[in-house]
This record gives sequence, C-alpha cells and structure tokens, in this order.
Amino acid sequence: MLTLLAVNVILSIGGSVVILNIIPKFRDMFVKAHLSGVDLNKINKPEIPEAAGVISSCIFLIVMFIFIPFPFSKHFFNKEWGFPHQEFVQFIAALLSICCMVLLGFADDVLNLKWRHKLLLPTVASLPLLMVYYTNFNSTTIIIPKPLRFLLGHDLDLSALYYVYMGMLAVFCTNAINIYAGVNGLEVGQSAVIAGSLILFNVIELNGDCWSNHLFSLYFMIPFFFTSLSLYQFNKYPARVFVGDTFCYFSGMTVAVVAILGHFSKTALLFFIPQIANFVFSLPQLFHLFPCPRHRLPRLNQKTGYLDPSVFQFKDKSLSTLGRLVLKTYQLLGLVKVEQAEKDGELFQSTNCTLINLALQLTGPKHEKNLAASLIILQVIIPSVMLSIQLCQVLQRRQL
Ligand code: UD1
Ligand code: MG
Repeated sequence: MLTLLAVNVILSIGGSVVILNIIPKFRDMFVKAHLSGVDLNKINKPEIPEAAGVISSCIFLIVMFIFIPFPFSKHFFNKEWGFPHQEFVQFIAALLSICCMVLLGFADDVLNLKWRHKLLLPTVASLPLLMVYYTNFNSTTIIIPKPLRFLLGHDLDLSALYYVYMGMLAVFCTNAINIYAGVNGLEVGQSAVIAGSLILFNVIELNGDCWSNHLFSLYFMIPFFFTSLSLYQFNKYPARVFVGDTFCYFSGMTVAVVAILGHFSKTALLFFIPQIANFVFSLPQLFHLFPCPRHRLPRLNQKTGYLDPSVFQFKDKSLSTLGRLVLKTYQLLGLVKVEQAEKDGELFQSTNCTLINLALQLTGPKHEKNLAASLIILQVIIPSVMLSIQLCQVLQRRQL
C-alpha cells in the first residue's frame, strides 16, 4: 500500500512540475483563441487567459492514466489470483465521469452556456459513475443518525432515491464551487483545501475496516491536490490566468466521484460547509425571487483600492410576496444591506446574496488579496475542527 501511495505522490509531483512549466507557454495561445476574461476587480481591467483549468485537469488525467497499471500490476504477474474486474471498472468509470465533466466544462467556457445547462451537464457526466455503483454495490440503505432513530428506525432503504441523491451530489459539488468564486485564487484555493482535508480524512481512516475505499480516494485526491496547488500559483492574486468553469466542474466532479465510490458522501459534504452556506444563501437569486446580475462578485472601490459588496437593484413592487418576505428576513438577520438607490425614487438596492459579499459587509472593505486569504482560512478552519474530532474518536476506538 505504501509503495503504491509513494508512486502516486511521485507522479503527482511530476504532474504539478509540468503544470508550472507549461501554463506560461499556453497563455498567449489562450488569448489568441479568445479564451480570455477581464479581471473585473483591477483598476486597469487587464484581459487574462481563461479556462486554464483545462491544462491542470488534462495533466491530472494523464497522471491517473499512467498510474492505473500500478494498483493492478500484481495481478498481471500472478494470474492465479484472478483479475479484480470490478475494481478496475470502478477506476475507469470514475475517470470517464471526470473526463466527461472536463469536456463539458470546457464547452461551457467556450460557449457560455445557460444556467439550466449548467445543472444538466454534471447530471449527464455522473451517469457512468451511477451505473458502476449499481453494478458493483447497489447498496442504497442509509444508517439513520442517532437523534432521528426513534422516528425512522436504525436504517432506511432509499432505493431509487439514493441514485437521485448521488446525481444531485455531483450537480451540487460542481455548481457550489462555481458560484463561490469571483476573487483571485478562491476557486482553486477552496478546491485545494477540500482535497487536502479529504487526504487527511482518508489517511486517518486507512486503519479502519473500509481502508480500501479510502485508498481508492487517495489515488485520486493526491494528484488532484498537487495539480491544484500548481494552478493556484497562477490564479492567486494578482491572477495571471483564470481557471474557468472547466476547473470548477472538474474539481466538483472529482470530489463527488471519490465521495460516492468511497462511500463517504455525507462526510464529504461536511468539508463543503462554506459552499453549502453560500448555495443556500444564494437560492433566492438563483431561483429569481430577487434579480440576479450576471456577476455577483464584489466591486472595486477605485478610490480606496479595496473591495466593497456588490449590489442588485430592484423596485419594491417588482418583487413577489415571497421575494419581499425573504428579503425582509435576510435584512432582519443582517445578511444583506438594503438601501434606497436614488433619493425620493422607487429604486432600492441590496447587497448580493453571496458569502463573499457577506464577509465584506461584516468585516468592512478589504483588499482582494486579504479577502481571498480570509475565505481560504475559513475553508481550513472547519475541516480542522472536524478532523480533530475524528482523530480523537479513532484514538478512543484504539484504546477500547
Ligand atoms: C459565477 C457567479 C457570478 C460570479 C462569477 C465569477 C453566480 C450565480 N454566478 O458565474 O456571480 O461573478 O462566477 O467567477 O453566483 N472574474 C474576475 N475575477 C476572478 C474570477 C472571475 O474578475 O477572480 C470574472 C472574469 O471576468 C471572468 C469571469 O468572472 O472572465 C468568469 O465568470 P464565469 O465563470 O463565466 O461566471 P459564472 O460561473 O457563470
Ligand atoms: Mg465560473
């Protein structure tokens, strides 16, 4: 096991070195192909290459393709053991789903797809994965958490609903990362932290009964972590490339794949707490209860050079009753700041419903670099607490 992990780490480091070398060479090609975007929060509004996530995700896939023979090599030489076809199919299907998502994400970057397509793409890409889950495991029973057992019993068979849940997990992971974005380094920074946390979680669980599931997850998470770290070097403030939707989809799908096939989808969601909070907070804008501008990222104050929360404008009578109620609740809870947009006019404005704007509203204007750092630190704090609890539980189990 340790040899396989060492091979995986060496290949991943090799992949990350390649990324560090090739991204600068590809930058001009991307701009010439009109794959570029304007860095909205810089005074001179530079145009920089977009969709650089396609480079890191392709290198990730190449690392994985080179790695595939290693876990199965002992079966090539010793024919008596029989080849583990199920494990092999699981590996290939996981890569197929990730590959599919990279392709669809790149299509989104090139074609700027509509929101309904963004929801459909991960559902389609997760189908090979669900098929393998059906043929290999088809376990659809969940253990009910202790406080709810008096109501629902010890376990519950969700049957087809479990597949709906897994499909939705892929949709959630991909889109949740994509909408928690807009500050240099945040998309790839949060992904690297999630990958790093999952690596620690898997390493802790390697001593448990389900060690093979966690080993499978490590095979994917280690290359994902290293390739993301290299990409971060170019995307951190001041960004030299944008990672694009390609990276957000690739990242979300890779996590969803290991969470589903590694059988820890509920635990994986705990590493997504900021993304879940941002998603739930965003729902009224995503479902058009309030207007949703094309970009909800914070806006640059040209005088101070700091970022302020961005706003959307609305007329009170243009909102539905439900919209008005939700906005009032958000306002009472201090989640948004609503004010009149023009003196004596009917036009109002409210801060956009994202965690990034809320952070600015609570802590005051911030420099883009410091804002990204604070949000990434928040992403680190939550898993650190959880992993410490988990480590204590493992140590307690060992003492018993
Ligand atoms: C999502 C968000 C949108 C946010 C955008 C920024 C929702 C519903 N959508 O849209 O509000 O503005 O991501 O990522 O929440 N950009 C920067 N600086 C950055 C990153 C991006 O200026 O650090 C700008 C660039 O112009 C870049 C563009 O955002 O070209 C990329 O936006 P895109 O990924 O296409 O937006 P969506 O994912 O559709
Ligand atoms: Mg995006």
